Amino acid sequence: MPLDSLNNLERTHTCGELSIGQAGREVVLMGWVARRRDLGHLIFVDLRDREGVTQILFSPDHSAEAHEKAKNLRSEFVMAVRGKVLQRDEKTVNPAIATGAVEVLVSELFILNEAMTPPFPIEDQITTAEDLRLKYRYLDLRRPKMARNFKLRHRITMAVRRYLDAQGFYEIETPFLTKSTPEGARDYLVPSRLHPGSFYALPQSPQIFKQLLMIAGMDKYFQIVRCFRDEDLRADRQPEFTQVDIEMSFAQPEIVFRLVEPLIAEIFAVKGIKVQTPFLRMSYRDALERFGSDKPDLRFSLEFIDLTSLFKETDFLPFKNAVESGGRVKGICVPGCAGYSRKQLDDLTGVARIFGATTLAYMKVFENEVQSPLLKSLGEAKCHEMALAARARPGDLLLVVSGNEKVVAESLGGVRLQIGKQEKLIDSDAYELLWVTHFPMFEYDETEQRYVACHHPFTSPVEEDIDRIFSDPASVRAKAYDLVLNGMEIGGGSIRIHRQDIQATVFKALGLSDEEAKMRFGFFLEALEYGTPPHGGIALGLDRIVMLLAGENSIRDVIAFPKTARAVDMMAECPTPVDKKQLNELGIVFLGPDT
Ligand code: AMO
Repeated sequence: MPLDSLNNLERTHTCGELSIGQAGREVVLMGWVARRRDLGHLIFVDLRDREGVTQILFSPDHSAEAHEKAKNLRSEFVMAVRGKVLQRDEKTVNPAIATGAVEVLVSELFILNEAMTPPFPIEDQITTAEDLRLKYRYLDLRRPKMARNFKLRHRITMAVRRYLDAQGFYEIETPFLTKSTPEGARDYLVPSRLHPGSFYALPQSPQIFKQLLMIAGMDKYFQIVRCFRDEDLRADRQPEFTQVDIEMSFAQPEIVFRLVEPLIAEIFAVKGIKVQTPFLRMSYRDALERFGSDKPDLRFSLEFIDLTSLFKETDFLPFKNAVESGGRVKGICVPGCAGYSRKQLDDLTGVARIFGATTLAYMKVFENEVQSPLLKSLGEAKCHEMALAARARPGDLLLVVSGNEKVVAESLGGVRLQIGKQEKLIDSDAYELLWVTHFPMFEYDETEQRYVACHHPFTSPVEEDIDRIFSDPASVRAKAYDLVLNGMEIGGGSIRIHRQDIQATVFKALGLSDEEAKMRFGFFLEALEYGTPPHGGIALGLDRIVMLLAGENSIRDVIAFPKTARAVDMMAECPTPVDKKQLNELGIVFLGPDT
């Protein structure tokens, strides 16, 4: 079939634009054939572009030539039409699409390109396996839903730029070919041809560079920047992802919060959602005590009840052991769930066990009695005391875990989330934002047998805790904070160490010798000695924010060309082995997978 060329033809409207206001006008539309219905006498085509779909009508009575030509059209052919906008009669109005009140009666058709039959339907509701969608990502991206997601992403990035510009921030680019960064996750390495045997690392974040920009007097910096991390992947993690990276001089946590809260409000406004500022602030300790998580989902309550003090003198072994070894007995009271079956309770016990709990005790509270396997071991009075402490009402279910603090927090936290989901306690239209503050400075790494930095080693400790850095490192709090939205970490940052003596102390506490510190961060440590202002900042996870606002469950749906959970690009088919010649040039020998 001979194809037409565009010549001087120019588009007058997009496919998402026409309405009754344009009825009678001559227009030129261009796009892809989303659907073609040949009714013999009339041919209808749904013409799609990024902005929407418009119904196109071919009638032999209007243009026999265009009608004849339209018989050749197939799905995903690229076409242009010149025609007249008609108001549809009431019976045929399609309220499901923005242009549903009109159609375009064609006088001239230009077939600009053919297309192979796509391997899956280009429409919003599809059940196609994600791997196939990713292999043909350029077709997947034609789906209206994807066009909407990327429009949202674009508008959010523009809102971020506008806001930060208005606040006096400079957008400054930092290198991709750089040295290992301090986040702790794994680096992607890039071999250097000019320096055989030496490697660059792709940045896990621009952390060091943004701090150097503060030393350089740039005062307020931001960057919408790609970061690279060779981590295990999940729905909310990609090996390359985008941060809105921010740093400011003379900052304190509250100054960062006061900058970021209106920024988040602007981002939400793109989607027409109003958020309340200031956001809630909760210390890391409180978050763990009350919800068993440093990123609590506050769309529902089910707060933990600490029952430890009730079991100071108990003979019931699981509780006794927990209390005597400094652990906890904690519970949650689930309203109206006293009717839970054996199976439902077993399933929840399974959840608690995933996080290391030995078991999940339960107590069903009724009008005149409680039912629980605990009755036998604890006695009726103690069980009533528990019900009272939990403010349980008739019909409620009390679930209790005992053990060390970490196990209790994580297992009861897991059970809380599971109940939130299964009891439909989560309002899917709600957006609950909070700052989690005062993270611990250090955590003990069992495999490395030493303390490591919770955030990164440039994070400032809280002043009043500094004198415990060596005597009780676990109790030292950091000036670090996370921004949490609906139980997901959407940002993290801190006030940084700006004094060389404190930095040296922190390195020492991390077991980093002077030589090691110098080797890894020498240039930065030197820079710290040339007049570093107090500074701090944050990085927001742009993909996660767009995902949540787009109502998607995976950040892959808001990244144009994402990788699979196995870090594979299905379309480009990479990573791939490279030519021996290329390896030789880089001085690299591959020893095989088992070495
Ligand atoms: P952090 O490591 O907490 O901080 O990262 C900041 C935010 O980036 C997002 N994020 C990710 N998103 C998708 N895929 C990933 N693999 C991924 N990893 C992180 C999260 C997270 O909250 N330099 C510091 C920031 C600072 O201190 O200013 C940093 O990178 O939403």
